Amino acid sequence: MSFFQYQNGELCAEKVPLTQIASAIGTPCYVYSRAALEQQWHTLNDAFGDYPHTICYAVKANSNIAVLNILAKLGSGFDIVSEGELRRVLAAGGDPDKVVFSGVAKSASELEFAISQGVKSINIESVAELQRVQEVAASLNTTASIAFRVNPDVDPQTHPYISTGMDKAKFGVPMEAAFAAYQHAANLPNIEIHGIACHIGSQITKTSPFSDSLKIVLGMVKRLAAEGINIKQLDLGGGLGIDYQGEQPPTANEYVQTMLDGVKDEGIDLPIAIEPGRYIAGNSGVMLTKVEYLKHNDSKHFAIVDAGMNDLLRPSLYQAFHTIVPVSKSSDQSKPTLFDVVGPVCESADVLGYDRSLAVQANDLLAVLSAGAYSFSMANNYNSRLRPAEVMVDGDTAHVIRQRESHEDLFKDESLLPE
Ligand code: LLP
Repeated sequence: MSFFQYQNGELCAEKVPLTQIASAIGTPCYVYSRAALEQQWHTLNDAFGDYPHTICYAVKANSNIAVLNILAKLGSGFDIVSEGELRRVLAAGGDPDKVVFSGVAKSASELEFAISQGVKSINIESVAELQRVQEVAASLNTTASIAFRVNPDVDPQTHPYISTGMDKAKFGVPMEAAFAAYQHAANLPNIEIHGIACHIGSQITKTSPFSDSLKIVLGMVKRLAAEGINIKQLDLGGGLGIDYQGEQPPTANEYVQTMLDGVKDEGIDLPIAIEPGRYIAGNSGVMLTKVEYLKHNDSKHFAIVDAGMNDLLRPSLYQAFHTIVPVSKSSDQSKPTLFDVVGPVCESADVLGYDRSLAVQANDLLAVLSAGAYSFSMANNYNSRLRPAEVMVDGDTAHVIRQRESHEDLFKDESLLPE
């Protein structure tokens, strides 16, 4: 069920009208629903039944520590890609023993921090990184628990910017090279082989890319076993898509069943980790924005709003579609106009949505839906705009979980040259 519903013509997050949040803290702001986050996590978790598994939430989707804390309390693990994300997980009470560390460019100091915190798996993305992990672990006089992130060269059939498992991508180690890398790793003194990892892309709306890549991963597991290298965990990445615009991605059950069928077919019963981000957070949040002006020219109507591409980059960067709806249905909805909903940023790409049928006036509030994932986490200060506030609704209470940035914050780390 959706936790963002109209009640008496007012869009609410759980039991809180969004107008109330906008008038208390202003716009633009992000609003998340705790119940939605928990529902999504449980749906995936329950789909595994009693099959051994770990849900490692992809922190990059939404890294607010309140979000991480809610998931940590459910027993979630985390997929991180930087020391910053690991520090957030720790601050939120996450268990490093359920953390996997992905990313192609881990620095020596990031590895040192992660290994010393005892993360479950460093998901290594190159032979050069293996060497670095060995050196760092040796310098700490310990062993690093690792997986190789393999690249199965499978097309996830999604936007090219979020495809990661094809041979032209910078991600993962190609299969033949990975086989050799495992053999090499098996002989390194400070490396403990824990698993195999694979993440082929994001916003995937079919099961076949998942089953195709799983087959390739399991083939590698068998090949390694024949060499005496025993994999202890399959990390099958994230990528399950969500409904932004009527897409019909697999359900959590269909997605998980695809994996469980795949391992069963191959007679492999290893524990599975997955790294979902969007599925958990995407439809658990909205962005609120206010119409500043209406502007009409010969060929276009514009609803100029107070949120821009710096606040929500996805439409500009990926031509992503986010549904935009009025927060109050009380204003006259009878004569909608086709508007381009545009922001304040000085770029023509600063468009949140083209040709949206809306009946809006200046000062009306709009909600940009499906903005819980890759939205605030990709916000920036372009045009010296303040990043929005974030709010978490829990039942009938709204908690500010991140204050709006202040103008003092904006250049507090900058300095003038000496006179
Ligand atoms: N694991 C790894 C190693 C990843 O790189 C990603 C996402 C995930 C898990 C989580 O994937 P998800 O379940 O959320 O699909 N900014 C883009 C999405 C970039 C995804 C990057 N990696 C967007 O707004 O669509």
